[in-house]
Amino acid sequence: MNLSIQPASRVQGDFFVPGNKSISHRALIFGALANGTTRIDGFLRADDTLATMRCLQHLGVSIRDENDSVFVEGVGFNGLQAPREVLDCGNSGTTMRLMMGVLAACPFETTLAGDESLSRRPMDRVAIPLKQMGARIEGQGERCLPPISTHGGALKGITYEMPIASGQVKSAILLAGLQAEGTTTVLEPAATRDHTERMLRAMGVAVESDGLRISLDASVQPRAIEIQVPGDISSAAFFLVAACLRPDWEVTARNIGVNPTRDGVLDVLRDMGAHVSLSNEKVSGGEEIADICVRGGELKATRIGGDLIPRLIDELPVLALLATQAYGTSTIRDAGEMRVKESDRIEVITRELRKLGAQIEEQPDGMTINGPTPLAGTTVTSPSGDHRIAMTLAIAGLIAEGETIVENAQAITSSFPDFKQVLEQIQQQ
Ligand code: S3P
Repeated sequence: MNLSIQPASRVQGDFFVPGNKSISHRALIFGALANGTTRIDGFLRADDTLATMRCLQHLGVSIRDENDSVFVEGVGFNGLQAPREVLDCGNSGTTMRLMMGVLAACPFETTLAGDESLSRRPMDRVAIPLKQMGARIEGQGERCLPPISTHGGALKGITYEMPIASGQVKSAILLAGLQAEGTTTVLEPAATRDHTERMLRAMGVAVESDGLRISLDASVQPRAIEIQVPGDISSAAFFLVAACLRPDWEVTARNIGVNPTRDGVLDVLRDMGAHVSLSNEKVSGGEEIADICVRGGELKATRIGGDLIPRLIDELPVLALLATQAYGTSTIRDAGEMRVKESDRIEVITRELRKLGAQIEEQPDGMTINGPTPLAGTTVTSPSGDHRIAMTLAIAGLIAEGETIVENAQAITSSFPDFKQVLEQIQQQ
């Protein structure tokens, strides 16, 4: 599918985005392991989260999507059944890695597979700690690429020092830890998204967090709760950044999750000179939620690196676009993880933004970007399995002269099926 984008004379308005993807995956998975019926409102219905839903259904979990809510009938620990077929995780790394954590404790053999993009993504980061806990896991080659076969069983808690900052790895270990004997402790090199810890606490599991050390004792079964999923800041970010591309463009994103492990993009927008304000702030289900208003200003270059990276890892492609419009040299560093996302995002975003006229250099662990540079519309190509690259290139089209065609934009349905409608809503031509 191709997207054709015309330049905008102005970007403005209020919008909603679909539910937080990370929380939607976790609500299904923890709901499946809980006792009782979990009700999920605001669930993200997109390819990635529907892949998690199907995997759980193949494991014998009954999940109903009724009257705007999703109901998960928890089977408790030991209640999952051996699937009759391969579990297809589609394009979703979160599905595969979190399911590996679940299956580590299941005493049967399961195969997890994915699309071409997912089949290139390393699973050793999850397989190594899960094997230490007692699971049998095999993948392809040294980096344990999919398809993956798991044979779980009795697990023992471990203390694991994570070599990389990853919310998926942490969550997979905690999911296994929940079903293991003894205490499981994870030490993070930098704070990553903590939706898992917050949801488990809301479900009555004692998860201890002490700085970068997270522990849980597998003594308590999670109990079913009602979960209200807030809008996803990673989806809202495309339009928040769009409003920053020109002074006085302004948008308000309603009902967005602003958990401090996820809001690094707002820090960067402020640092670059945009006006950012939050209103209607509240806490629901242990997650901070707010309306976010962003107005463009004179943009200056920024430096993004260190502990900030995990707080905005998925927003880096669209922030690289923003840096092309800022005065001076912006740098993105310590972001080597971008290379193992749905595509090698450092290579791809550098190549495609250059086609539009951007001055951007690839670095081993990030990019260097000079601005401001006028962009000119042309045909750009998203890797077929990378939703965030396709959406970033569409946003670039709003300020490029003439028409921008984004080829291969079909992956947008991984996380944001209504992206084009929201884009049309906030864009004036
Ligand atoms: C996610 C964690 C991040 C993020 C991904 C979703 C999660 O990945 O990029 O889109 O839901 O835990 P890593 O854990 O690999 O950093």
